[in-house]
Amino acid sequence: VGSARLFVITHPSVDRLHGARLCEGLRPLAADTILVPSGERQKCLRRAGALYGELLERGADRSSIIVAFGGGVIGDLAGFVAATYMRGIGVVQVPTTLLAQVDSAVGGKVAVNHPRAKNVIGCFHQPRAVLADCQTLTTLAPREYRAGLAEVVKHGVIADAALFAWMEQDWRAVVGREAKAVARMVVRSCEIKAAVVARDERESGLRAVLNFGHTVGHALESLTSYRTLRHGEGVAIGMVAASRLASRLGGCELSESQRIEGLLDRLGLPTRISDTPAEEIIAATRFDKKASAGRPRFILPRAIGHVEVTSEVPTTVLREVLVGMGAGT
Ligand SMILES: NC(=O)c1ccc[n+]([C@@H]2O[C@H](COP(=O)([O-])OP(=O)(O)OC[C@H]3O[C@@H](n4cnc5c(N)ncnc54)[C@H](O)[C@@H]3O)[C@@H](O)[C@H]2O)c1
Ligand SMILES: [Zn+2]
Repeated sequence: VGSARLFVITHPSVDRLHGARLCEGLRPLAADTILVPSGERQKCLRRAGALYGELLERGADRSSIIVAFGGGVIGDLAGFVAATYMRGIGVVQVPTTLLAQVDSAVGGKVAVNHPRAKNVIGCFHQPRAVLADCQTLTTLAPREYRAGLAEVVKHGVIADAALFAWMEQDWRAVVGREAKAVARMVVRSCEIKAAVVARDERESGLRAVLNFGHTVGHALESLTSYRTLRHGEGVAIGMVAASRLASRLGGCELSESQRIEGLLDRLGLPTRISDTPAEEIIAATRFDKKASAGRPRFILPRAIGHVEVTSEVPTTVLREVLVGMGAGT
């Protein structure tokens, strides 16, 4: 870092709550702060354009470093700006939501949304460092905290049956944000995600397993204009859909799929689809960037701790599962 200038990109609320703590941590380096309003809808090209303007105005150059201080929205947006400003400058991720600490800050995927599809404008840009301070999570709204838990459940299902079983057993400590439980989830999640990404950084294969729950999840998020569902909530519903698909198609025991649904339920995450018509969800899954030749790709559990990737999900079965979860006919 040396003499590089630092530009912190954050939300006003996060700056108010934790800005002083960040400043202290960065000392003796000083940083400029650029504020962005909260909300998924800020993760767009327009906002990125405004940030390039701010950086130019304040004299950011190729040796400057962006500090992405916030949740996944800030991490993705500020990371995308860092990846593209002057053909790429450094970024340090300092995640302040559970979702960002257990997932989005690690792995180097950065993006903004298009009105028609999520995360479709983006690139890979590994952070110089990721600094997660679990203390910042104490001020998180309950709904945001729960949304982050969905990605931890995801890590259990794709790679770590012991993590999943511990969450089932100690769900009260998990929901109660006990410091030890939170630290365990953050550390284990970062290990799992980093291990997958290290083997397949550009998602030519294995990395796709991290998208468990995201095919239907992203479809629901974009159909509700990123306004109604938190990302983690969409993922929770998507994991239920994928688990039910897996047991319907015979790839997974019904009891395993019920455990996944049961844990999500206990953690206070949504497991049902309300209002959205099944046909619209099916159409939206074809827009997903994971789809190829109009066939959506699904990550289906075989058992807790193991998943497989497939494009062989018959639309009729998908429709039945979605309707069974409450989607409109
Ligand atoms: N790049 C990746 O690999 C990846 C992975 C998963 C998710 N994502 C993206 O992450 C985004 C979701 O991130 P998120 O769930 O963190 O949402 P978010 O960034 O919108 O943060 C949620 C809310 O919490 C507030 N907040 C942040 N830190 C706080 C704190 N410490 N105390 C109190 N309030 C705080 C924010 O102001 C915001 O209102 C989505 O856009 C999703 O696509 C990216
Ligand atoms: Zn996710």
